[in-house]
Amino acid sequence: MPAHVAIIMDGNGRWAQQRGLPRSEGHHVGNIAAHEMVYGALEIGLRHLTLYAFSTENWKRDTDEITTILEAMQCDLDQGPIRDLDVRQRWLGHPDKLPEELVQALRREERRTRNRTALTLTVCINYGGRDEITRTAAALAQAARAGDIDPHLISEDDFARHLPHPDMPDVDLLWRTGNEQRTSNFLPWHAAYAELHFTSGYWPDVDRRDL
Ligand code: FPP
Repeated sequence: MPAHVAIIMDGNGRWAQQRGLPRSEGHHVGNIAAHEMVYGALEIGLRHLTLYAFSTENWKRDTDEITTILEAMQCDLDQGPIRDLDVRQRWLGHPDKLPEELVQALRREERRTRNRTALTLTVCINYGGRDEITRTAAALAQAARAGDIDPHLISEDDFARHLPHPDMPDVDLLWRTGNEQRTSNFLPWHAAYAELHFTSGYWPDVDRRDL
């Protein structure tokens, strides 16, 4: 049984295109599939689930599409079905460019759910793996400059302690839907030893049984 499953939820756009629907419809149904993963994770007793919901690359998309994705997240945080489950919700990513209301809601839910124990759900929003590594290196450089750490003695453990969520365990299984065999800047530190699982179906078609 893996302790930590991380998912690249890919194929929302193609799922919609295939049906002659707007891409936004793919994201709406994809959002339901994300809820399914949370229900499934609770059912099988998974401790950590991490979802790649919005990458730093996603800002290149059409403004309407970006708004659809971010609004779905806002709606989930304010009144979604996950809110009352035994799920600790947290956010991995950077606040730059995100709507202030969304940042506030992400921080609010982190505070509100911080003592929950069954599942830790980490949602990556405005996340990029290299960005995470670069910021962690900068935090270590600050610590070295302040004299808190000797730069010659920096270890992997020291690095891990300066990551945004130092308690996040290594990823055991990284799953990507949508028929692309790439990891796309997702969790490069945590997924270094992960087993990779690529499936051809589109994200909106998955449900908890796939997990
Ligand atoms: C990739 O499909 C999917 C996204 C960029 C958005 C994923 C976001 C969600 C499913 C919402 C999740 C919400 C929560 C609260 C976790 P794509 O648009 O890149 O598909 P394509 O490759 O077919 O174009």
